Amino acid sequence: MHDEKEARVGQDSRAIPAGGNNAISRHPHTALVFLANLITRLLPTSRCYPLKAFLYWIAGYQVSRSCRIISSAQICGNCQVTIGDDTFIGYDVLIVGGESRIDIGRFVDIGPRVCIVSGTHAIDMHGSHSAGAGCSKDIVIEDGVWIGANSTILGGVRLGRKCVIGAGSVVTRDIPPYAIAVGVPCRAIKIWNKDACWWDRASLTTT
Ligand SMILES: CC(C)(COP(=O)(O)OP(=O)(O)OC[C@H]1O[C@@H](n2cnc3c(N)ncnc32)[C@H](O)[C@@H]1OP(=O)(O)O)[C@@H](O)C(=O)NCCC(=O)NCCS
Repeated sequence: MHDEKEARVGQDSRAIPAGGNNAISRHPHTALVFLANLITRLLPTSRCYPLKAFLYWIAGYQVSRSCRIISSAQICGNCQVTIGDDTFIGYDVLIVGGESRIDIGRFVDIGPRVCIVSGTHAIDMHGSHSAGAGCSKDIVIEDGVWIGANSTILGGVRLGRKCVIGAGSVVTRDIPPYAIAVGVPCRAIKIWNKDACWWDRASLTTT
């Protein structure tokens, strides 16, 4: 089954704006986003996938009908989210952000409690709050990526095609395609060598 999936990822060599979707810009509607998350939570955990996708689509996110969203996951915020075909969104995943794009490709697997957050704040050492003016940066997760449990993906990063992010990682920079990357901060430790069908050690400067 995984071979078949790999073949389908490999078939499409177009560079993505991820999602594999036809990248139509859609803007979320706050009340409908609230309703989509509320109703999704009431649905059976690992069923009704097309209905969940439809609810998020109505709310303004571009979610493929074949995407599988576990009911405890949440998508919220003012960001333009696209999620591609046959992508899995696991338990308690949080996808959130301000004015930005979060493009999640096809055949992506997102483990439990992953947080994909495009927003941040300027650090303000003059005011009472250290979190100053808000800003957001786009996130791109290319086709075939697997993100391990409890990882955090920060704004401004691109996860290259079919890379693997180890559990508990915090991704602050781009990760190259076909890499295994782990840790805080997340760095590539191995790169898949297609010709040799083997893993090469990633040099410490890869990312
Ligand atoms: C990254 C992962 C896929 C393993 O990949 P792997 O190539 O088999 O890695 P290895 O086990 O050979 O480990 C290589 C090194 O990375 C370290 N490592 C592995 N996973 C790590 C992680 N998540 N965080 C930090 N370091 C990690 C290992 O300790 C090892 O270090 P060492 O060489 O100093 O001993 C796996 O550890 C992982 O995190 N899986 C995700 C599990 C998960 O989230 N499950 C939920 C279901 S989606």
